[in-house]
Amino acid sequence: MAQLIDGKRISQEIKDELKEKVASLKERGKTAALAVIQVGNDPASCVYVGNKKKACEYIGIGSVSYEMPEETKEEALLALIDKLNEDTAVNGILVQLPLPSHICEDKVIEAISPQKDVDGFHPQNVGRLAIGKKGFVSCTPAGIVQLLKRSGIEIAGKNCVVVGRSNIVGKPMALLMLRENATVTIAHSKTRNLKDTCRQADILIVAIGKPQFITAEYIKEGAVVIDVGIHRDGANRLCGDVKYDEVAKLASAITPVPGGVGPMTIAMLMNNCVETML
Ligand code: GUN
Repeated sequence: MAQLIDGKRISQEIKDELKEKVASLKERGKTAALAVIQVGNDPASCVYVGNKKKACEYIGIGSVSYEMPEETKEEALLALIDKLNEDTAVNGILVQLPLPSHICEDKVIEAISPQKDVDGFHPQNVGRLAIGKKGFVSCTPAGIVQLLKRSGIEIAGKNCVVVGRSNIVGKPMALLMLRENATVTIAHSKTRNLKDTCRQADILIVAIGKPQFITAEYIKEGAVVIDVGIHRDGANRLCGDVKYDEVAKLASAITPVPGGVGPMTIAMLMNNCVETML
């Protein structure tokens, strides 16, 4: 049976390290505050935003929340972002996605100062990642690299297949694995022979957004499998993009859902917030 990659434990370890770092930075007079903006009442977003605020409190940084109604105008959101960009008491700005359909997400992301973009979504930060310069990195992919490293899984020289090409996960994930010297393939829903492509992977990272899509047939024996998906199955239980029970029999290591990638996203957001203090 596969080694379980315990995201809950590893994210706790990271948050505890950050808590210590924040305490010593505070002794040197440095503080940090994260502004968290939510537009509307999407139930999943409410849970994520709540968890982000709790994590700030745990590691000892301030958080200021802005809860805006669903019908908020784009200009009003952009004006708030401008104000926060100028506010020296705010080091990080996070706008929870998705936004209501009348607001252009790209415009909002581009309005955030790249120096305060703790989500790592601004084109300037994505560009810096692409050319190997320092900058904020998208939290879920950064968390996956930490999961692998802290589980003793070597990345350099391995065949890594990333299934999914979103701006938030798939693309930055591929760039990060390349930075770690993996040989990287990006596959997606239109890839021909997806099974054959996935079966080449020593490390398979799945962010395709389809419940239990990846079955044993997609897995090379001994592969490491990272599942970014989170869904509810027919019995209302949480499940991922990977059919866990059958894939775990073949894989050498696998992330569970829940308790795998999910908690790492918040730990890496906290890491980005602490970087703003340095
Ligand atoms: N919505 C889903 N994931 C994320 C994330 O990592 N950051 C933000 N801002 N919104 C999200």
